[in-house]
Amino acid sequence: ARIRRYRWDVKYEYKSPDCVKKLVITINGQSPGPTIRAQQGETIIVELTNNLLTENVAIHWHGIRQKGTPWFDGTEGVTQCPIVPGTTFKYQFVVDRSGTYLYHAHYGMQREAGLYGSIHVSLPDGEKEPFTYDYDRNIILTDWYHKSTYEHAVGLDSIPFQWVGEPDSLLIHGKGRFNCSKLTTASLDAGICNATNPVCSNYTLTVVSGKTYRLRISSLTALSALSFQIEDHNMTIVEADGFFVEPVVVQNLFIYSGETYSVLIKADQEPSRNYWATTSIVSRDSSTPPGLAVFNYYPNHPRRSPPTDPPTGPAWDDVAPRKAQSNALRARHGFFHPPPPLHDRMIVFLNTQNLVKGRTRWSVNNVSFTLPDTPYLIALKENLTDTFDQTPPPDGYDFLNYDIYKQQDNQNGTSRNGIYRLDFNSTVDIILQNANSMQRNKSETHPWHLHGHDFWVLGYGDGKFDMYNDPKKYNLVDPVLKNTVPVHPYGWTALRFQADNPGVWLFHCHIESHFFMGMGVVFEEGIEQVGKLPSSIMGCGETLGRHSP
Ligand code: C2O
Ligand code: CU
Repeated sequence: ARIRRYRWDVKYEYKSPDCVKKLVITINGQSPGPTIRAQQGETIIVELTNNLLTENVAIHWHGIRQKGTPWFDGTEGVTQCPIVPGTTFKYQFVVDRSGTYLYHAHYGMQREAGLYGSIHVSLPDGEKEPFTYDYDRNIILTDWYHKSTYEHAVGLDSIPFQWVGEPDSLLIHGKGRFNCSKLTTASLDAGICNATNPVCSNYTLTVVSGKTYRLRISSLTALSALSFQIEDHNMTIVEADGFFVEPVVVQNLFIYSGETYSVLIKADQEPSRNYWATTSIVSRDSSTPPGLAVFNYYPNHPRRSPPTDPPTGPAWDDVAPRKAQSNALRARHGFFHPPPPLHDRMIVFLNTQNLVKGRTRWSVNNVSFTLPDTPYLIALKENLTDTFDQTPPPDGYDFLNYDIYKQQDNQNGTSRNGIYRLDFNSTVDIILQNANSMQRNKSETHPWHLHGHDFWVLGYGDGKFDMYNDPKKYNLVDPVLKNTVPVHPYGWTALRFQADNPGVWLFHCHIESHFFMGMGVVFEEGIEQVGKLPSSIMGCGETLGRHSP
C-alpha cells in the first residue's frame, strides 16, 4: 500500500482568527493544520519539526487505533516523551479503517492554541459508502480564548483557583468574529482588534442549488459542548466517529469535543440568497456569542449577509434533545459487528470534583490523575516499577452511600498515577457515572475519549446506575461504535470494548481543562506483546539521555 509523507513545521505565529491578534500554533503556517487524506490501509508518515522555541510538543492521532504502533499514539507522558524544541520527530502509522478522524496536540493544554486538524480515510477500492453525495466538505469547530494556554494552566493549578472562564469566541474552521467594542480601551488598538481585517471574515461554505453535500463536522473545543445548525436546512447524520450510522434527520447537531460526524445536506432552498450556519454553546450558561458562517448559494456573493437574523441554537439548559440525539444513533445495518454478549470485567467511574491539597481537581472514584515523568509505555515495557504508583486505582465507588445529587465538599481526594491493567483480549464494560460538582445544583457534561480503541455505546440513563436493572436495557443489537461519548448531567453512560490492542491507552475527559485537572485514567493491556520501542520516544524521566532520532 501507498505511503503518504508529510513534513510539518510547527511554530507560533501572530494570527487573528477572530479579529483579535494572538499567538497561534500553526502547522506549515496554517491553523487548522493541513487535512491528511489517505485510503484505508495506507501508511502515514509525519515528520514534525518543533519550532516552538521554548515549548515541547506531541501530536495525537485521534480515532486512529495505532495497531502495532502504540508508541506513535502521540500522548505525552503515556506513550512518548515530549518532542523538545529544535528537534524533529517521525510519526509513522497505518490508517486501518475508513472514516473521519482528527489530530491535535497532546501536551499540556496546548491543543487550545490552535494545533489541530482532520484525517480523512477513504474506503478501499471497490467498497462503497451506504449513501451518496455530490461533494465532500469539512469543518472543525473550536472555541477560542484570547488568554494564552500558559495563563490557563497556571491559573488552574493556583491557590486560589483561577477558572479559565467562558471562551471569547467560537471558531468555524479557524474563523470567527469577535466584537471589538467589547475589549477594554487599552486594547482598542486597531493592531490588536480589527473587525475589518479580511482574515477574520466568516467562514463560507459555497453550495450549488440541487446538489447534496457530505459535510464532515468535528469538534475540538477546549471546553464547550456545541449545537450546529444551518438556517432552513435539515441535516442527515450518516457517520459518527468513523462508523456509518442509520440515517437520523436533525435540525441541529449536538457535538462534543473529540466527536466527528458526517451529515448530508441537500441545497434545496431558495437559491437567490445566502443562509446562516451557526454554532452555539449548550450545557453551560455561556456568555460567548454564537459562531457564524455563511451557507452561500452559488453564484451569490459569498460575503453577502443573509437577509435574516442568524438562527439561535437550542436553550443551553435543555438537556432532553441532547439525550434524544445520543439515544437515536444506531449502527448502520450491514456495516457493523455487534458487541460480545457478556463482559469479563466492569469498572464504574464516578466523575466528581475534589479538593486535593487545597487545589480544585476533577477526579474519577476520588482519584485525580497525574502524569508520571517516565511515559507508562516505556516504564511497563522495561519494568521501571518505581516510576509510577503500582497500586491500581479503584474499580468503583461507594455505590450504596454516595449521593450523586448532593453538592460535594469532597475533601478526601488524592492525586495518583496508578493505572488499570486489563487482561488481554478481555471484554471490559465501563460505566461513566456523573454526579454533582462542588457547586450547588451543577452537574456538567463530560465527553470521554478512549485512545487505541472504539467502544460500543450500550446505553445512557438518568441518575445512579442500577447494576441489576440497567444492564437489561442495554442495546446489544445495533449499538454504535465510537471513540468519544458524552456523559450527560446527573446521568450515566455504559460502554463495552475489547482489550485487544497491546499498549497503554489514555481514557479521559476531552475538555482541555478537565483533563489538565486530573480527569483521566490509563489502561494497560498485552504489554508483553508490544514490540521493540523506538528510542525516538525516549529521553525523559528515567530514560534521560536515551533519545536518538
Ligand atoms: Cu483527542 Cu487524548 O485526545
Ligand atoms: Cu470533563
